[in-house]
Amino acid sequence: MTNVRDFFYNHFKLKADIAVQSPGRINLIGEHTDYNNGFVLPAAINKTVQVAIAKRTDHTIQMFAVDLNEVETVSTDSLQPHAKQWVNYIIGVVAQLPKSTVAAGFSICVQGDIPIGAGLSSSAAVECAVIFALNELYQLGLYKDKMALMAQAAEHAFAGVKCGIMDMFASLFGKKDQVILLDCAYLTYQYYPLDLKEYEIVLFDTQIKHALASSEYNTRRLECEQGVRILQQTYPAIQSLRDASVAQIEECLQANEALEGTKVFNRCKYVVAEIERVQTAVIDLQLGNLKIFGEKMFATHEGLSKLYEVSCPELDLLVNLVASNENVIGARMMGGGFGGCTINIIKKTAVAEITASVRESYLSATGKFLQTYQVSTEEGTHLL
Ligand code: GLA
Repeated sequence: MTNVRDFFYNHFKLKADIAVQSPGRINLIGEHTDYNNGFVLPAAINKTVQVAIAKRTDHTIQMFAVDLNEVETVSTDSLQPHAKQWVNYIIGVVAQLPKSTVAAGFSICVQGDIPIGAGLSSSAAVECAVIFALNELYQLGLYKDKMALMAQAAEHAFAGVKCGIMDMFASLFGKKDQVILLDCAYLTYQYYPLDLKEYEIVLFDTQIKHALASSEYNTRRLECEQGVRILQQTYPAIQSLRDASVAQIEECLQANEALEGTKVFNRCKYVVAEIERVQTAVIDLQLGNLKIFGEKMFATHEGLSKLYEVSCPELDLLVNLVASNENVIGARMMGGGFGGCTINIIKKTAVAEITASVRESYLSATGKFLQTYQVSTEEGTHLL
């Protein structure tokens, strides 16, 4: 792969000051829990984005996206959400900094191999690479947790997705061979070794991204907030679904069903169960109880599909195709949903055979070729 510095040089005819690499992420368990103040268990992966960057003096940001073969220039004086999403991932981050910080502008070149729209957080990787690079370039003295929050704010304000903190945190804080147990309420975290013994992680990519992904994502967030408001009428101390129990939800929300519909009840029930599941799953992982860990992944999928309703027929199909295979200990949809990937824990010796047979069934059911990725865990955002 041509080095990002070379791409930068060939395009801008000058040398980059700094180059940064930022990874995509997987999430073993803990889905749609981050924006509910819960726990997640992600890891950074060996699919990454690289940026090369140099200061300018003409108050413009000149951008070159290598893989899309697109260029764009915007003035640092008027940073507004842009029609091109990839531009938003860059300028959205700049807009989080005090105006004077990067007013003089910069040139930036972006490239990577994280499949776009596959739910591996390519957008977060770009945002994290940009904020990390600007922090170095201008010596801003930002800590990584602050960078994660700024990248998240960029996604909210410029990309229009009210995402949680997981993707950015995983990209910035990832470590090789480790998963991160992140407490999204306090941004405290702990690394756990990822030892899957004779098993490995394989992602099955539906090659689908349903158009409603971001609008439904934002709706789920609102439904959870609605649930919290109903719970607060009886339990004023509940600030988020992190503070609620299944019993409280049954007590307060089931009674409200006629008023609120069953949706809010189902959403909350899934989230509370999932927050609990992550905390026990991490112990299973530590103890090497992979089979029990895998069962929890299937339970998560069931909840995401039936109660949280963020799956889709293609994701359900991929999970069903492996669910009774003795060489697959866990499988579920991963990330926001409505397309993207499933994450599977498969016996190494059976990966080739399982992949081939799932690919065949997927092709005949959907007419689409299934991409698969055997990912490993890698270091988070760093200088190149
Ligand atoms: C997307 C969001 C994350 C998280 C997941 C679901 O990846 O960006 O913040 O909410 O969906 O767990």
